[in-house]
Amino acid sequence: MKLGIPVESRDGETRVAATPETVKKLVAAKHEVLVEAGAGIKSSIPDDAYEAVGARVSFAAEVYGVDAVLKVRAPSAEERSLMRSGAVVVGMLNPFDADNTAAMAAHGLTAFALEAAPRTSRAQSMDVLSSQANIAGYKAVLMAANTYQRFMPMLMTAAGTVKAARMLIMGAGVAGLQAIATAKRLGAVIEASDVRPAVKEQIESLGAKFLDVPFITDEEKEIAQGIGGYARPMPVDWMRRQAELVHERARQADIIITTALIPGRKAPILISEDTVRAMKPGSVILDMAVDQGGNCPLSESGKTVIKHGVHIIGEGNLAALVAADASALYARNLLDFLKLIINAEGGLVINREDDIVAGTLLCSGGEVLRK
Ligand code: NAI
Repeated sequence: MKLGIPVESRDGETRVAATPETVKKLVAAKHEVLVEAGAGIKSSIPDDAYEAVGARVSFAAEVYGVDAVLKVRAPSAEERSLMRSGAVVVGMLNPFDADNTAAMAAHGLTAFALEAAPRTSRAQSMDVLSSQANIAGYKAVLMAANTYQRFMPMLMTAAGTVKAARMLIMGAGVAGLQAIATAKRLGAVIEASDVRPAVKEQIESLGAKFLDVPFITDEEKEIAQGIGGYARPMPVDWMRRQAELVHERARQADIIITTALIPGRKAPILISEDTVRAMKPGSVILDMAVDQGGNCPLSESGKTVIKHGVHIIGEGNLAALVAADASALYARNLLDFLKLIINAEGGLVINREDDIVAGTLLCSGGEVLRK
């Protein structure tokens, strides 16, 4: 099969869908790999590193005109127009962007959105949400620590004692748990919250304190279990009690990192303007959900703003700031996924009985398959 690895054109996107490590394996499996000139450069991969493993460096029109295009983000209209009807595109295509899916279907593409893979053990090696959220959680702590004007660890010096930073982490999924682990290594004192009670043990095992908002009704308890491991929007009364507790804890916190997401919906608001106003001057909020509407209404995408004396970092694509490792892990996820849709002879097979294939397949043959 002829595979294309283009330059990612979206603003701030530094990642690339294949690395010399994965290209080498694709070439060994007898695929012809075309890499657009400069595709890996923002991930510190020069063109000749791809050539050294058997890829051919080419220009956009040729790279998009292949059997299967390997992407990080969804192709733009212009990129789509370079693709053949019937071609395959695999990437983080955003399964909730119905307009994009419709446009890909109309162009006759067979499109797979890797974020839509089920969170099962079998899908773990191709779980792009996990590989990228893990990196994002790590980078969030480093960015927040960099903006924070004090030390993270407790220090006893000849000039006196410095207190450890107090950190509050909202949402303890993959990103939140990595943020806890990273902040712990830097010496912060950490509290963390989530709607899913199952994460209490994980939070505690990483050395943080679980911020408990007890359930009062059976409905709260049931919704908090989520669906398929994902959170659901919690009832208003639980959110109010959580906000009260968060408000109290935020006054003590030096750094808050928010990671709370609900797939396909606007992110829940967890840090209100009133709470920001109550925080200490110089404290830091990093809102990882900024591009899904934000966990804090004052955060702005791609910017660090100071509101009520609090530094609010709105960075939606943190994984892209650790480009080399983010690309390395993403490329491995993608390579593993390709094994599901390419047979031993190098041909395309779409087995819709396979839950990972069915879950990720957005459109094929002009038809939108995932609504
Ligand atoms: P996510 O990125 O969708 O959300 C981040 C976190 O925010 C979640 O823990 C969620 O419960 C939390 N959250 C949502 N609303 C909140 C609120 N109002 N207050 C506080 N926290 C709130 O989650 P992620 O990291 O993608 O994980 C989703 C699930 O998938 C988890 O259960 C995780 O354990 C599971 N998972 C399973 C895998 C597997 O079996 N292969 C691999 C990775 C994750």
